[in-house]
Amino acid sequence: MLNSNDKHELKIRSLHPLIGAEVTNVDFKEPLQSSIVEQIHKAWMEHQILVFPNQKISDEQHVAVTRNFGEPEIFHQSIIKSKFVKEIFRVSNTDENGRLMPQSDPIQKQLSSAKKWHTDSSYRSIPAMGSLLHGVEVSRTGGLTCFTNMYEVYDALPERLRTRVEGKKCRHDFEHLSRITGAIKPTDEERASMPPIWQPMVRLHPKTKRKSLYISPIYNDKIEGMGETESIELIEELAVFAGQDKFVYRHKWETDDVLMWDNRCTMHIVTPHDPSERRVMHRTTIVGEGPVLAA
Ligand code: SIN
Repeated sequence: MLNSNDKHELKIRSLHPLIGAEVTNVDFKEPLQSSIVEQIHKAWMEHQILVFPNQKISDEQHVAVTRNFGEPEIFHQSIIKSKFVKEIFRVSNTDENGRLMPQSDPIQKQLSSAKKWHTDSSYRSIPAMGSLLHGVEVSRTGGLTCFTNMYEVYDALPERLRTRVEGKKCRHDFEHLSRITGAIKPTDEERASMPPIWQPMVRLHPKTKRKSLYISPIYNDKIEGMGETESIELIEELAVFAGQDKFVYRHKWETDDVLMWDNRCTMHIVTPHDPSERRVMHRTTIVGEGPVLAA
């Protein structure tokens, strides 16, 4: 029997000269045919971040869509992940009873780290391949999610910065998050399950074979061969370079947009919004296919 995805060619519209495309003519409430999954994957590799408007999906459907691209990651802390659907990471300022959380809440402090550039789960020995974020209740006062193309950033690095990152590793430590946000520290058990890891600063994408700069400033506290201050200053300088408008697509959310990004070649950041306004965003994260390949 045919479903609504049969015979459909995706409609793909570029959103920015360097990054991002909108994809329509697909329905995430239906199981996706392999030809549709292939078209999405091809567009994903080409545009790094895809916007799927009008996808009024349940959390279970969100997880099912994610499984077309890989295994959903389960967050290693007991907070933030949904109590009902364990694969859902709640990037939200309400709790699961729908109550708005104050900014002083430890969860909100931890989530405030998203206002700095990062790429998801870079602190894992096998970092996340991608993420899918569903705008359940979106902000009208800010809360834009912005994405930068780290292939282009790498290609454009001035010699002065390139020589400082080429062949180097930097440390990604989940605990660094609590140092910069004042969030509660991970428990001993959580810390033991996620020890700091050294990742190459220039990585090779396993599918496109392109090189990109690989940093995640909310987790980075050290660069090989440098002291702490020098390391943090360089990471900051690289983040400012990467955040230049010419590399960045800024997404203004509509309810039920689903965004899918490639964590191997992008970073993202969220803009501030009025904290008294509800913003409910559900994310799945796709487990990577292997350790980061040094370029
Ligand atoms: C995230 O950093 O994964 C979420 C970004 C957002 O809240 O828009």
